[in-house]
Amino acid sequence: MSAAVENQRTVEIELVNGHGGADPRKWEDLFLPTPLKLENRLRAQKIEARLSKLMLCGSTLRRVAEVFEKEIEAGLRQQPSSLQMENTYVPELPDGTEEGSFLALDLGGTNFRVLFLELKAGQLLREKVKHYHINDALRLGPGEDLFNFLADCVQDFLVSQSMEKETFSLGFTFSFPMRQHSISSGELITWTKSFNCGGMDGVDVAALLQRCLSARSLDVTVRVLLNDTTGTLVAGAHIDRNVGIGVILGTGSNGCYMERASRVLHWERPHSAVHDVCIDIEWGAFGDNGCLDFLRTEFDDEVDAKSLLVASFTFEKYIGGKYLGDLLTFTLSALARDGLFPADPNFRKLQTSHVSLFEEESCAGEVSRTLSALREACNSDLLSTADALVAQYVAHVISNRAAQLVSVCISTLLKRMDRPYVAVAVDGSVFKHHPRIAKLMNKYIALLAPAHQFSLMIAEDGSGKGSALTAAIAARMATRGVARL
Ligand code: GLC
Repeated sequence: MSAAVENQRTVEIELVNGHGGADPRKWEDLFLPTPLKLENRLRAQKIEARLSKLMLCGSTLRRVAEVFEKEIEAGLRQQPSSLQMENTYVPELPDGTEEGSFLALDLGGTNFRVLFLELKAGQLLREKVKHYHINDALRLGPGEDLFNFLADCVQDFLVSQSMEKETFSLGFTFSFPMRQHSISSGELITWTKSFNCGGMDGVDVAALLQRCLSARSLDVTVRVLLNDTTGTLVAGAHIDRNVGIGVILGTGSNGCYMERASRVLHWERPHSAVHDVCIDIEWGAFGDNGCLDFLRTEFDDEVDAKSLLVASFTFEKYIGGKYLGDLLTFTLSALARDGLFPADPNFRKLQTSHVSLFEEESCAGEVSRTLSALREACNSDLLSTADALVAQYVAHVISNRAAQLVSVCISTLLKRMDRPYVAVAVDGSVFKHHPRIAKLMNKYIALLAPAHQFSLMIAEDGSGKGSALTAAIAARMATRGVARL
């Protein structure tokens, strides 16, 4: 039995006890973070009270789940919703017959990757990859410049591999919300994370990339355009056929899942033979219409106000790695204003990696690295061991909330899909590097969807491998004569 499944069983036992016992509040209590233990009990109580809005109980999470389900339904029906629920036009997952050589591009963070992947009988035989840095001018300047740069990188990569004269199909992983018209075309809806290029309204990103590649006389055809969650789902399904959900928990956060085609209204292609299709939820924007305002805290307001794209991607700002460091900073600053913490951390000195570090030390019962990071961030020697424990507690409270909110989404999808067992493929720096996020997610998903069997698995490099596999799936469908989606 995998560790994930074992973990789930443990929680189920707790759950049965929680429901079966005389005190119905026990189930609620299972969601609370570990209490703050300080010698100064009064200070601990005041800090817990100050952070109480960040601690979500079971009934609040059920309310979030109800709102999420309603927004899913509205999004699929193309009614007003904060969820995009985009049809990706990916109707099949890997079946072990994927063949060929492909290029894959991965754009979504500050690094851009070009990959060459060779598949035979579904197995990855060869892989070459090169990373390119995307500077601020490219991330925030005209879109044309960015796409010309991407094509320059492809050319550089091919020349470095002596492959510039060869013919390739390309999978473009573009990790932003899109309005997709087919498996190989779509427009950007809005930039997210650290990108905000101009001149992209109504522009088909696959067609723009194709133009820039052709202008360099490269014989490369953009065959699929996909989101990183789709790539993760596809890469995960390549390892385990039970994968039906793909999740990214990294700089940003998002999920996709296999939905019944009959429940999807947005189709621009004939689809009578399609049974299930992958839907990119874009849950980062969940709540942008105000439907989650009951969760929002003053700390979230500050994170939003200091973000690149204010008043958008509400949910992502509660859970994404781009924002957890700021959340830690603003929460500690609020405690400092109330005399509960001795110093104010300087803006952007604490990153999400510090949230992970503080959590790691807290699990190990240590404080030394937390203390030195805090002293540096606050530019102060006044901090004590008790202050380090407070910072570790704040890191735990915000991590716990992030784990709870992602778990609400996954548990809602498990109920919606209603399969006997679903494996969830997850990728992203927060999931991979945070010491307890996976454990917390296992616990909360099991508490929120107790009747549904699941496991969380790491699907590495969905944006690269998943992109090539999706291009191979598209090629396979084409040779079977399946109408192009
Ligand atoms: C942002 C993007 C989304 C992507 C996610 C993870 O939320 O809008 O498309 O999947 O980040 O990279």
